[in-house]
Amino acid sequence: MNYAGVKTVTTIGLSVIPVTVEIDVDRKAVIYDIDIVGLGDTVVKESKKRVKSALKNSGFGVPQGRITVNLAPSDVKKEGSYLDLPIAVGMLQAAEVVSKDLDRFVFFGELGLDGTLRKVRGVLPILLSLSKQDNGAGVILPIDNAREARVVKGLTVYAVSDLKDLVSFLNGYSKKSPVEFAQPELRQEVSADISDVKGHDFAKRAAEIATAGLHNISFRGSPGCGKTMLARRIPGILPRMTMEEALETTMIYSVAGLLGDSGLVRERPFRSPHHTASTTAIIGGGTEARPGEISLANNGVLFLDEFPEFRKDVIEALRQPIEDGAVTIARAKLTVKYPSKFMLVVAQNPCPCGWYGDNVQECGCTWRDVRRYNRKISGPMEDRIDIFVDMPRLEFKEYASKYSAESSLDVRKRVESARTMQLERLQSHGLRSNSQMSHKLVQKIAPLDSTGQKLLENAIDKMKLTGRSIDKVLKVARTIADLDGEEKVLPRHLAEALQYRKKTVDA
Ligand SMILES: Nc1ncnc2c1ncn2[C@@H]1O[C@H](COP(=O)(O)OP(=O)(O)OP(=O)(O)O)[C@@H](O)[C@H]1O
Ligand SMILES: [Mg+2]
Repeated sequence: MNYAGVKTVTTIGLSVIPVTVEIDVDRKAVIYDIDIVGLGDTVVKESKKRVKSALKNSGFGVPQGRITVNLAPSDVKKEGSYLDLPIAVGMLQAAEVVSKDLDRFVFFGELGLDGTLRKVRGVLPILLSLSKQDNGAGVILPIDNAREARVVKGLTVYAVSDLKDLVSFLNGYSKKSPVEFAQPELRQEVSADISDVKGHDFAKRAAEIATAGLHNISFRGSPGCGKTMLARRIPGILPRMTMEEALETTMIYSVAGLLGDSGLVRERPFRSPHHTASTTAIIGGGTEARPGEISLANNGVLFLDEFPEFRKDVIEALRQPIEDGAVTIARAKLTVKYPSKFMLVVAQNPCPCGWYGDNVQECGCTWRDVRRYNRKISGPMEDRIDIFVDMPRLEFKEYASKYSAESSLDVRKRVESARTMQLERLQSHGLRSNSQMSHKLVQKIAPLDSTGQKLLENAIDKMKLTGRSIDKVLKVARTIADLDGEEKVLPRHLAEALQYRKKTVDA
């Protein structure tokens, strides 16, 4: 046989494109060689060496002649090592080692020189996309990717260990059971309980509201008052992910090559990159357009500790993904889009030395330092934060108090019921939480009675609220009403929401 065609796929970010690997063997050629055409990257080009060795070391040999491998469609870039397997299978078919109809399968996997199949990244988006196509084709992939296959429903997947195993299966010499569907249960562990945080009832309440309505929140306070400690306890009060959310987040981890053994990201992510991190690390990009921290935090929390210490370009680059819930990474010839729906939690000191406004320790900064420090967060960036909390120093009597605070699980119960209320109200608008409401929706969903109107009017005047901040106050008030189990936003909800506006630091 001089021609073979094998089905596989290629990916651009989370999009999956079908690819056919065509093999043509010119048996009359004088020079025996392999040419790979069809916009493959360097890794694909190197494939020929791995495939050649893998075939030889598995005892099959390469078809004799000049071989042309075409990756169709030829105008789409292909990258990564998972084309090794379909190329090798094409050669086996051209060499008549496997003769059965291969059209029933889609192949992908990397080959070792000894013919073993190696795990590849980005398998979950591929499997989810194939499972939706419903053309009855099965999938053959490396055994180490089987765990990812287990979480996908309605797709027949066979996991193979090496080329010999594959040939024996394709020729019907050995039988194989498809990978069994077994979605692991989702969970949301409380690794650190919110009751460990002494005092700070106001900040804890703010954290609860933020979590309930998915509002972005900022904690500001002097060194050692417990900002980091509280922020790290937010995952414990978050509700469990839905399966839809878990699969969405898992796809990103799969593409980033960060998926652990479970095959599924089961808990909401909590990402806390260091303030020296680059824009690429936070936003995503690089030669392979990998997802950044904002996408790895999708459906979870992005915690930026010591926020003003982050590079200015990083802080500014966050604005668009926060607004859109997705990030577009442009590369030479294509753009890749990843989701980035996260709850932003930031923590900072009030000034460079940290003690501005403290009632014991004196601040050693000049007023210029204090202003410059706080101005590192631009107005538009601040506009994306709904709740601001100033945390005072912890008093000794609070620290020594034996009063036992509410546990994370107790708080989570309220958060969950508030989220259910929001979902029922907002689902038909394609939204999940109050923070995502548009201006129009806020007007419709959070109307105020006459006392509330008056209170708001006064606040606009006294607190100099802008149009955007009025909306934010109303969204937060809506969440407070949800936590209260109230259908209407009452004046007390609005009054509480107004307390979470930013207090300016003016030295
Ligand atoms: N409210 C608190 N309740 C119990 N322990 C606390 C509290 N605040 C601080 N601590 C203790 O102090 C340690 C430091 O707190 P944390 O790291 O949260 O401070 P911070 O506000 O983030 O300070 P910095 O501005 O220096 O980052 C905590 O690990 C904890 O042991
Ligand atoms: Mg800290």
